[in-house]
Order: sequence, then C-alpha cells, then structure tokens
Amino acid sequence: MNILRALSSLRALLLASLLSIPAASLPKRGSFDWNKINHVIAFGDSYTYVQGTAGLQNFSFIGDYLPGDFAYTPETLISNKIVQNFTGTAEGGPNWIEYLTGCGVNPGLTSPLTCKRQLWDFAFAGADVAEEFTPLHHPYTIPLVNQTQQFLTYGNAALKKKTCVNPLKTLIAIWIGINDINDSAKYAVPSFQAFYASILDRVFSSSVAPLLDAGYRNFLFVNLPPLDKTPGNLPKAPAARSPNATMIGWWNDALAERAERLDGLEGVTAMVYHANAFLNGVLDDPARYGLKNTTGFCAGYLQADVLTDPGKYGCPVPVSEYFWFNSGHMTSHVHEVMAPDMERFLLSRSG
Ligand SMILES: *[C@@H]1O[C@H](CO)[C@@H](O)[C@H](O)[C@H]1NC(C)=O
Ligand SMILES: *[C@@H]1O[C@H](CO)[C@@H](O)[C@H](O)[C@H]1NC(C)=O
Ligand SMILES: *[C@@H]1O[C@H](CO)[C@@H](O)[C@H](O)[C@H]1NC(C)=O
Ligand SMILES: *[C@@H]1O[C@H](CO)[C@@H](O)[C@H](O)[C@H]1NC(C)=O
Ligand SMILES: *[C@@H]1O[C@H](CO)[C@@H](O)[C@H](O)[C@H]1NC(C)=O
Ligand SMILES: *[C@@H]1O[C@H](CO)[C@@H](O)[C@H](O)[C@H]1NC(C)=O
Repeated sequence: MNILRALSSLRALLLASLLSIPAASLPKRGSFDWNKINHVIAFGDSYTYVQGTAGLQNFSFIGDYLPGDFAYTPETLISNKIVQNFTGTAEGGPNWIEYLTGCGVNPGLTSPLTCKRQLWDFAFAGADVAEEFTPLHHPYTIPLVNQTQQFLTYGNAALKKKTCVNPLKTLIAIWIGINDINDSAKYAVPSFQAFYASILDRVFSSSVAPLLDAGYRNFLFVNLPPLDKTPGNLPKAPAARSPNATMIGWWNDALAERAERLDGLEGVTAMVYHANAFLNGVLDDPARYGLKNTTGFCAGYLQADVLTDPGKYGCPVPVSEYFWFNSGHMTSHVHEVMAPDMERFLLSRSG
C-alpha cells in the first residue's frame, strides 16, 4: 500500500517535471552512460563523507544542521574544496566515491571544479535517513532527507549556473542505511522488516522524488555492507549478531525492490551496486586483495601516524592490509579495491 502510494506520487512528480521538457528531448529508457557523466552528486553517511574547507571538521563537505549553518551561498559552495588527509574521510584515506570519480584522491585540497568528473558530496558523517525514525547522532548531524533538501534549496541552482550541471549527464549517488540499521538494532522494534521498508519509502518519497522533480534521472544506490562481520559481531553466533545477515538482507531486498520500480520509469536509470556481495567476496578471499586481517582493526586508528608506524600501536601489518579501519568502517584500501568493481558495474549499465 505504502509502496503504491510512494510510486504513484513518484509518477505524478515525474510527469509534472517531464511536462516542462519538450517532448523531443525526452530521454529514452537506458540513456545512462557512465562515460558521459561529468558530475556526481553524492548523499549519505560517513562511508561517503568527504571533508570540505567549508564543512564541519570530521563530518561534512559544507555546513551542518544547526540553525545558521544549514544555508550556504553559491560562492561558498563554488569555492569549497575537498580536503584529503587523515581526517578527510572516515577511513584515514580516500573513500569509494573519491576513487570512483577520481576527484579529491590526491593529498591536500582539490576544487571539484578542476576534476574531469566533478564530485559534489553532501554526505554527512553519522547520518541516518530521517529524525522520524532514529535520533540524530549529534544536534549538527544532517539526515539524508535534509541533505537533499539542503542541496535543492542552496546548491542545485548554483551548480547549474556556475559549473553547467546537466541533470542528464549527472549521477546521483546515495549510500545510506548503515547508521539506520546499526542504531535501530538496539530498539525493541516489532518488525525490523516493516521498519526498514518504511525508512526506505521515506528515502524515495523525500529524497529521490524531489531530485526527480529537479530533473535528475540517473541514480546509483549502494546496498548495505556485511555489517554482520564487523570486528564486534564476528565472534558472536550468527543469530546473535547486531545487525545479523537476515536483517541486512531485509534492508537490501527492500532497497532493490524500490530501485527497480524507479528504474521502470520512462527516462530514469536507477541502479543498485551490490557492495554486500562484493565485500563478502573480499572477506572470503582476502589475499587476492592484498589483505591479511579481516577480523580486527588497528588500535591506533585515531592517530595519523598509524599509517606510517602501525607497530607503535601493536599492529603487525600496515593498516592497508586490514579490512576494517575501526569498529564500523572499512579501510581506505577496501574502498580502493571496490571502486573499480563499481565502475565495471556502471559501464555494464551504460548504453
Ligand atoms: C586535515 O586538513 C584540515 C583542513 O585543512 C586540518 O584542519 C586538519 O588538521 C588536517 N588533519 C590532519 C590529520 O592533517
Ligand atoms: C528535514 O526534512 C524533513 C522531511 O522532509 C522535514 O520534515 C524537516 O522539516 C526538515 N528539517 C528542516 C530543518 O528543514
Ligand atoms: C536476526 O535478527 C532478527 C531480528 O532480531 C531475527 O528475527 C532473525 O531471526 C535473526 N536471524 C537469524 C538468522 O538469527
Ligand atoms: C587482526 O588484528 C587484530 C588487531 O591488530 C589482532 O588482535 C588480531 O590478532 C589480528 N588477527 C589476525 C588473524 O592476524
Ligand atoms: C577529528 O578526528 C580526529 C580523529 O580522527 C581527532 O583527533 C580530532 O580531534 C577531530 N577534530 C575535531 C575538530 O573534532
Ligand atoms: C555500529 O554500532 C557499533 C556498536 O555500537 C559500533 O561499534 C560501530 O562503530 C557502529 N558502526 C558505525 C558505522 O558507526
């Protein structure tokens, strides 16, 4: 019922936005082509967050949720730069979206304007989907539905004007749910399956539909990683893990179902990259990816010199040979090996 309602509101919004486009320029289904994408606009949580010079240190590219910090000017956005250093991401080095776009990978500052594929990344570390489902990690945390609201209110027109963002040559990338599933696992939720479905309905009605309405047509969703195999979960019996693999499957199935419906709309390409399958493959065959430790993490992860002197923290191998960077994040090396697989997937969906 909810799904149908969300779908019919999506259709209505899509129709409304298509009505303002001349019929001859309506894209056919499957017009997505990764080789023609010149802007990537990202939303999500710490897995996707990049530090910006106009952002909150350790949390965002630009702004935060506190009154007065939510709005930004076109000038602040356009002059903002991606910071690449130990605290520039949540994993001590470049993350998947930086590797995938090639934007912000080099140490120091990068203006997205100088990248061949520009990355405009509004993900906020610690974000959940919406306050109606789970509490904010901090008063300044911007939930996903408000990241897209903030972008559409303050960022969209500025990017169109100053960097000629063409929605048809732009990919919207959304990786969300890691905190939602992690936070809500603590609660007595009567049905996690129904709960995840309603959270995902909100993603599509409050984030995706407004982006469709603004003309965006290409969407990449990433499903949940194997959070049942974090260092904290691994020693437990599979059923006692929090979240367990069944719960992760519920979220991922609900995401796939909604993305598939979106993909069925005229002119829209909606793709789900199965990070879960790829990363479980890495855990099953770590040596193939240069990994020696898939069960623990190096205790020095809060200190920048952990990258050059892991032994100081009792770690026998470099951080890049660990799967996990800390209790909830994969190392930058794992992001690096996943990015080419994501690119292969995007190319396989291009046409
Ligand atoms: C990373 O860069 C930011 C902004 O330039 C700076 O405030 C921070 O101290 C740097 N962190 C490290 C670990 O170098
Ligand atoms: C965040 O988004 C939700 C859902 O769209 C909305 O109800 C809420 O008012 C937004 N928060 C702010 C500060 O605008
Ligand atoms: C995983 O947890 C859920 C929710 O608590 C539970 O219903 C399910 O049976 C568990 N799965 C397994 C395999 O134990
Ligand atoms: C993995 O790393 C942790 C932390 O350094 C360490 O305690 C554990 O023994 C390592 N496991 C293996 C199999 O090397
Ligand atoms: C950012 O995180 C690092 C640890 O990774 C910490 O040392 C630093 O104090 C944090 N900066 C701020 C401003 O919270
Ligand atoms: C998920 O929760 C566990 C337990 O509270 C925590 O150790 C872990 O860091 C969390 N994961 C993330 C991505 O924050």
